[in-house]
Formats: sequence, structure tokens, C-alpha cells
Amino acid sequence: MEVIICPTYADMSRAAAREVANVLYAKPNAVLGMATGSTPLGLYQELVRMHREEGLDFSQVTTFNLDEYVGLSPQHEQSYHFFMHENFFKHVNIPPQNVYIPSGTTNNYKAFCEWYERRIKEVGGIDIQILGIGSDGHIAFNEPGSSLMSRTRLKTLAKPTIDDNARFFAQREDVPIYAITMGVGTILEARELILLANGKKKAHAVAEAVEGPVTSMITASALQLHPAATVFLDTEAAAELKMRDYYQWIQKNKPGAPRT
Ligand code: F6R
Repeated sequence: MEVIICPTYADMSRAAAREVANVLYAKPNAVLGMATGSTPLGLYQELVRMHREEGLDFSQVTTFNLDEYVGLSPQHEQSYHFFMHENFFKHVNIPPQNVYIPSGTTNNYKAFCEWYERRIKEVGGIDIQILGIGSDGHIAFNEPGSSLMSRTRLKTLAKPTIDDNARFFAQREDVPIYAITMGVGTILEARELILLANGKKKAHAVAEAVEGPVTSMITASALQLHPAATVFLDTEAAAELKMRDYYQWIQKNKPGAPRT
């Protein structure tokens, strides 16, 4: 796992956007795995800027989102459909038919989840998956105790996640308690994973995920099993890492870089 510690949120977002753009330059028809939440907003803004100012092209791209709340229609302002449209899709040139987001309103969740998994395989798998991390260490909505081999499925959200997400709703009771989420096993099949985290509220979960044991209690720790996972952090989110100096030494002294 590579750990990149950036001075600020803006630097972190730019570094992660460069990683996504590099995948697109190498493979214009790449399949991107998308995340929602406050963390990737800066990354999406930077990709939109690259699209407008540098001609970064999304016309052959396909996307799969990690998750969606159950019970919210795509028009609901707190749905992840709405979030993705407002913050990213309406600003770039991804063909709408290439956009996949789990349905929060299907009447057959099991069949939907199986279809979602099948579609990912049919398009050749996800090239780069963007991830955030919950304060309980979750990736997507794989809450503590989720199998590290889990697939896309219906999940009950943990109370800390409901509390964290209540800030977006008028009242806590409005936060859905179920979601459809890609599984940890689904996520681990992406060719490359990038996890972003900022702010001191994430520092503990980040330290557990990066330096703790691999455990289903912190599903982000499964990134340790992936051969191409990079964690992008701002200084606050990196604050509880014991090996901070080591990660910075590695960054400065990558093979091929002049010795400093
Ligand atoms: C969202 C998702 C979640 C979030 C996580 C952090 O699609 O998969 O795992 O990444 O809950 O959320 P924020 O970024 O709002 O702190």
C-alpha cells in the first residue's frame, strides 16, 4: 500500500485527480468506480477543471458507483444519484448510458445486486476505484463485520454512519437505515484502488486501516490485501499514523528519483 501525505485537502484532491487522469490517458475507455460523500468533492472539482481546461475526455468512460441509500429516488436531493449528477456527471462528457449507480428503489434487491455485479464483469472490470472511509473504518457501506469477500448487497447501516450522515438531512430520523453497496470482495477486484481521507475525524480510522491488522471490523483494512492501493491523506487525517516519516521518506525517494 502506498501512503501519500499532502499538506492540504486541495493538494490531496489534486494528487488523487492526477492518478485518475493518468488511468484515462493510458486507457480512454477506462471503467471508473465512483464514491460519494464530502471527501471526493475536491477530486471531482479537479477532474471537471481538467475536462474544461485541459481537454480531459470522458466520452468513452463507464462508471459504477459504490452505493445508494434504499428508499431514495434519483431525484431526492440526498440520493447518491442526485449527488453524482450535481457534482460530477453534469459537468463532464460521460455518455449517460455508461453511468451505473445502485438503485435505491428497485422492488427486487437481490436480482438487482446480481445484475450490477454481472455488468461490472461484462464491461471488463473496474480500472480504478475511488474510495472514502467512514469514521468506523468502512469502505462503501461495508460496515464493521462485513465479510472481506462480500459482494454487492443490501446492508443495514451502523449507528455511527447514520449519525455522521445526519448532517445532510433535516433530522436524524430521515437518514435511511439501509443501503445497497458493493461488497469488499467486489471492491478488491478493481485493478487499482485509491482511498482519500481528510480531517482529524478520520485520523483514527485511517491509522487502523493502514497500520492495524486486516479485519472485517475495519473494512478499509482490506486495502492491505490489494496489490495496487494508494491512500491519499491530508496532514490531519495522517496524524495518528506511526510510520508517517517512513511514508514521506518513500515518497521522496521513489526508484528513479534523484537521491535527496
Ligand atoms: C460513499 C461511501 C462512503 C463514504 C464514507 C465517507 O459512496 O462509499 O463509504 O466514502 O462514508 O464519507 P465522507 O466523505 O462524507 O466523510
